[in-house]
Amino acid sequence: MSKVRIISTLTAVFLFLVTLYSCEAQKAAASQKTGAQLWGENCIRCHNIPSPGDYNDVDWETIGLHMRIRANLTEDEIDKIVEFMKTVN
Ligand code: HEC
Repeated sequence: MSKVRIISTLTAVFLFLVTLYSCEAQKAAASQKTGAQLWGENCIRCHNIPSPGDYNDVDWETIGLHMRIRANLTEDEIDKIVEFMKTVN
């Protein structure tokens, strides 16, 4: 292997690790948010923010499955939002 090849391989590995690390850091940040925060930040992006009182507990479970896909949220995030909706509706 030439020196250039070794250096570029090491650089690629380094960049890969940095990317991996920053993704993990972002995930950790997201998981510290409360259901109320996640609701306020995400559920207003595409339509008027739905009020917790608009639906009952069973409906929120179903809407959670549906909007998790639409909003591209993690399971942990949508669980927190649905939990929040169910405690305040
Ligand atoms: C990426 C856009 C987007 C985001 C973000 C989003 N929604 Fe929606 N939502 C939609 C669309 C589009 C519809 C209309 C139904 C459909 O076509 O899927 C909808 C419909 C709904 C409905 C009507 C009932 C139903 O299931 O169709 C509710 C309630 C709802 N959204 C709640 C939420 C909540 C709560 C969040 C936050 C977790 C959220 N939405 C985030 C796009 C979004």
